[in-house]
Amino acid sequence: MRVLSSINAFREARRKMGGTVGFVPTMGYLHEGHLMLVRRAKAENETAVASIFVNPTQFGPKEDFARYPRDPQRDLSLLEREGTDLVFMPEAEEVYPQAFATWVDVEKVTERLEGSTRPGHFRGVATVVAKLCNIVEPTAAYFGEKDAQQVVVIKRMIADLNMNLNVVVVPTHREPDGLAMSSRNVYLNTQERQAALILWKSLSLARQLWSDQERRPESIKQQMVALIQKEPLARIDYISMADPETLEELAEIRHTALVSLAVYVGNTRLIDNITITS
Ligand code: PAJ
Repeated sequence: MRVLSSINAFREARRKMGGTVGFVPTMGYLHEGHLMLVRRAKAENETAVASIFVNPTQFGPKEDFARYPRDPQRDLSLLEREGTDLVFMPEAEEVYPQAFATWVDVEKVTERLEGSTRPGHFRGVATVVAKLCNIVEPTAAYFGEKDAQQVVVIKRMIADLNMNLNVVVVPTHREPDGLAMSSRNVYLNTQERQAALILWKSLSLARQLWSDQERRPESIKQQMVALIQKEPLARIDYISMADPETLEELAEIRHTALVSLAVYVGNTRLIDNITITS
């Protein structure tokens, strides 16, 4: 496994690769969820590339950029074990030099949900993913369903900018009790870790109500709210039932709905989602 931090060195290595290249962009502090993406990229391509870069531009001024967990040595040994061929691990100055002034702004699908609580977040995500794809030149890039809106935004960008790669979406990997794996779970203390289960419990309630023929989004959302409010350590940011493609809130559910939520557990903001289909 080669680890490269300069764009020029990466480009030189890229020139020697033939065939398909599967790319997994990450911010590091890897867990099994990330590794599921790496395994898919490895299984489906001749070359598997991962990047580790805690992208400063996708964090708001009051967010956790400075304390975002980092453990590059452990990350590299996990990636090595999965048979990753190449890791791109740049410094911030390499990605954002002094004169940097160009941004990728995806409209509409960035307005709601994560976009409304985290202004500028998706501008940072879209910009860095576009840059990383220009450097890595993958034939396919792998993203987790865990960040459902991120997938919608990236697919929009790739289509709109005629970028020449496939997007592969990988299901959310969960702890045995249902909590979605996330690098941010490390912020939770023992009590909060238990309380964090409320996200999965409320999504499971939504699925249950749906299979009991409930089709009114307002009713499903209200029952999710009521359940979450019973958990003293939890505070709801949003609960949404939206069209999985446009992310517009649904007045009624016909075929498919993306049920997503953001909840503070203590000071940690967690997100999760499921898609329900008839
Ligand atoms: P990060 O949070 O490190 O996640 C990297 C990739 O792993 C994303 O595609 C994310 O959706 C996926 N992932 C995270 N947890 C997962 C889980 N439990 N199951 C399946 N996949 C999971 O998302 C980012 O980084 C950044 O925004 C990035 C795309 C790298 C741009 O900076």
